[in-house]
Amino acid sequence: MNLLIINIKKIVQVETQPVSFRAGYEMQRLDTLDNAYIFVSGGRIKGFGSMDAFTDSNPDFGCKYDTVDARGQMLFPAFCDSHTHIVYAGSREIEYIDKIRGLSYEEIAKRGGGILHSAERLHSASEDELYESACLRLHEMAMYGTGAVEIKSGYGLTTEDELKMLRVIRRLKETSPLEIKATFLGAHAVPLQYQKRKKMYIDLIINEMIPMVASEDLADFIDVFCDKGFFTTSETERILMQGLKYGLRPKIHANELACSGGIQIGVKYGALSVDHLEYTKEAEMLALLGTETMPTILPGAAFFLNMPLAPARQMIDYGLPVAMASDYNPGSSPSGNMQMILSMACIKYRLLPAEAINAVTLNTAYAMNLNEDCGSIAVGKKAHFFLTEEIPTVEFMPYAYGSNKIKKMFLHGQII
Ligand code: NIG
Ligand code: FE
Repeated sequence: MNLLIINIKKIVQVETQPVSFRAGYEMQRLDTLDNAYIFVSGGRIKGFGSMDAFTDSNPDFGCKYDTVDARGQMLFPAFCDSHTHIVYAGSREIEYIDKIRGLSYEEIAKRGGGILHSAERLHSASEDELYESACLRLHEMAMYGTGAVEIKSGYGLTTEDELKMLRVIRRLKETSPLEIKATFLGAHAVPLQYQKRKKMYIDLIINEMIPMVASEDLADFIDVFCDKGFFTTSETERILMQGLKYGLRPKIHANELACSGGIQIGVKYGALSVDHLEYTKEAEMLALLGTETMPTILPGAAFFLNMPLAPARQMIDYGLPVAMASDYNPGSSPSGNMQMILSMACIKYRLLPAEAINAVTLNTAYAMNLNEDCGSIAVGKKAHFFLTEEIPTVEFMPYAYGSNKIKKMFLHGQII
C-alpha cells in the first residue's frame, strides 16, 4: 500500500543531495521544508514537496494510497540508535543502589557485579525469553521515535552464550520492523573462570568465537571494551585483526574510564565508530580528524554513572563529526529514549538543536552503516519517520525534555 501525507507543517532534515555524515560547522546545517507533502511507495520515500505544488493527480501516486492529514505536525526522520545492548536478562537496580552509596563502575565490576552479573543471568535465560524481552524494548524505543538500532552481544562470554545472544539478534532482525545491525562483543569483560588466565579467554575469542560467528554470518561488526580494567590496546589489536580477517569492521568502546588509547586503535583499524569518549584530549581529536571513524558519545551512560562529559562541543569546533546514541543496557544506561539523548546533547553538551538532530539521525546512521537508507528524508531512503504532536518549532523537540512528542511512528511507510 502507498502512503501520502499532506499538510505537514515542516519536514525536518530533508536532503536533495544526501551526504554520508555532517562534521564541524556543517553540523549546524538542517534543511527543512514548510507546508509539505510526502509520498511513500514500497516502503521507501518516493517524493516530497511543497503543498503549493501539490496535485493529487500526480501520476507517481498511482491509484491506491492511504492519505494522512498532518496539519500542525512536523515530520522527522526516525532516530538511529547506533549503540545498544538491549538483549539481556534481568535489570541491575541493586548495583544502582551501590552506585548511589558511592561505589564506582569499576569497583562493582571487580566484585563480580556489572557485566559478569548480566552474563550469569543471560546464561540461564532461554532464547525465547531473551527474544521476548528485547522485542518489548524495541517496541518502546520505536514509540519514542527510533527506527534503527545496533545491538551488541557481550553478556554471553562463552562461545555458546555469545552465539545464543547473536541468534536472538538475528531473529530480531528477521521479525522486527526496525532496522537492526548486530555487533559481536565477546571482549566485553573477562569471565570469572578466566580472571587469572586472561590470555586464554582472548585466544578463545580469536580462535573459536570469531570463526563461529562468521561461519553463521551472525554479526555485522566487532567490538572490544578497550579501557582501563577491561582490555588493553594490544589485546584489542589482536582481536580486531582477527575480526577484520573475517570481514567484521570494528566499532569499539573506548576512553570511557581512562585515556586508554582506544580511540587511536580504532582509527588505526578503520573502525566505523569509537564510542563513549569521556576521556578525550587533543591528541585523540587529532587522531580522528579526516578519518572515516565516527566519534560517538553516549550521554545516557555519562548521566547514569555520573561521569565526566565527553568534550562534544570541542570536537565539533575542531571540525569533527559527533554522533550520539543511547547505550541502552542494564548497567550503565537503562533507557533507549532518544528524545532524552537529543535534549541532553543540547543541555549538557552544548550542541545547538540542529547539531544535536544531526548527531542522532544522520551521524548515527553512518555509525551503523545505514546512511544510504536512514538518517534523513531523501528520495529512495526507507520510509522510517515520525510525525510529532503539534509543536511550535523544531527547537521545541530538545527543549521540552522528558515528554514524548511523537504522535505517529512510521516504519517502512506503515504506522506502528
Ligand atoms: O557501554 N562500557 C561497557 N559496556 C556497557 C555497559 C554494560 C554493562 O554495564 O552492562 C556500556 O556502558
Ligand atoms: Fe556500550
